[in-house]
Amino acid sequence: MPGYELIDNKEFSEISQIFKKSKTLFRMGFEKQRKGIFKVEEFEKKFARKLNSNYALAVSSGTAALRVALSTLNLKEGDEVITQSFTFVATVEAIVESRAVPVCTEIDETLNMDPDDLVKKITKKTKAVIAVHMLGVPARLDKIKKICKKYNLKLLEDTAWGCGAKYKNKFLGTWGDMGAFSFDFAKTITTGEGGMILFKSKKKYEAAKAWHDHGHENNPKVPRWEDTRKSSGFNFRMTEMQAAVGLAQLKKLDLIVKKQRENYNKIWKKIKSLPGITKRLYPPESKISADALIFFVKDRKKAVKCRLALLKEGISTKILPEAYTWHFAKEWTHIKNLKKNSPLKKSFNKSEILIKKSVSLPIFVNFSDKQIFKIEKALRNILK
Ligand SMILES: Cc1ncc(COP(=O)(O)O)c(C=O)c1O
Repeated sequence: MPGYELIDNKEFSEISQIFKKSKTLFRMGFEKQRKGIFKVEEFEKKFARKLNSNYALAVSSGTAALRVALSTLNLKEGDEVITQSFTFVATVEAIVESRAVPVCTEIDETLNMDPDDLVKKITKKTKAVIAVHMLGVPARLDKIKKICKKYNLKLLEDTAWGCGAKYKNKFLGTWGDMGAFSFDFAKTITTGEGGMILFKSKKKYEAAKAWHDHGHENNPKVPRWEDTRKSSGFNFRMTEMQAAVGLAQLKKLDLIVKKQRENYNKIWKKIKSLPGITKRLYPPESKISADALIFFVKDRKKAVKCRLALLKEGISTKILPEAYTWHFAKEWTHIKNLKKNSPLKKSFNKSEILIKKSVSLPIFVNFSDKQIFKIEKALRNILK
């Protein structure tokens, strides 16, 4: 959550370099005037290096990252892409925009994809799986990866909330064929709006790079306006200004995640013995980003009571219980181009029970002991 909490002169200094020196806001070209300053390229290289990945492509949002990643899979009308019932609606929007049919699995107590249900949802039309690391907790990647391999499916990780988190000592977003990140204003590191895709394959990286830029190959032998192309595309480019902020934020990633984990542990220590409270499960060997602390209470009524008590103390909740309709597939009847018999229009009984009894606490880098005390006080009053 707190990339925005730490915005200071470092971001300003990166941005002012553009306005004082390069005076170029576009990621490509203008070599004479930009004095060697390529912020987007620099951000991509440094992000890939930081997360031990081969190739990174910066884009205009996390939703764009998912859409551009899917563009490399040559999906055809009627192909199915499976994701999970608990995610932000953007994951499914990206599938629908790719002309594929979204299918959702149930979640388990990790609040991420239930691998047993994934196997049940695979059909002859399934082409890819999007595993979401919802609110910073790793999906069961080893099981999901094995299933994808067995059924010859591509794996895309929706790592919007998982920047800096690890599973089995490997960064989230680097397990699958591709990993999509969001840098919107609520995320671990932010560029205001923005996203990044990590790739294993150079071929996919090059295809995505062209597609996110109307098909431009950026052929070095010709000027951009005479550029060559093999595919169509769209415009999902990141600006130099977004990348400048991203460069400063990336340097703060370790500190943000460290502080979030510390505050997460402090809060859990204070509330774990309250009656009727159980913590969201993590797959073993998870190192969470600790953007949120989610626990289960008896039912939705109790979860809403917890939120109201927290609000009274000036502390909010994050997504659950208040924003579950934006994050639960059963509620997305507004997506018009889903066919009547769409597999999305199913009930997800197991997911619904888990989502409705969840309370999600936002974790801030700058939480004070006083605020942590208020969280404990509010919850103690409701759960005593
Ligand atoms: C799970 C998930 N995927 C994708 C996105 C989309 O990211 P953006 O807001 O950068 O488009 C979000 C945004 O909150 C998200 O929570």
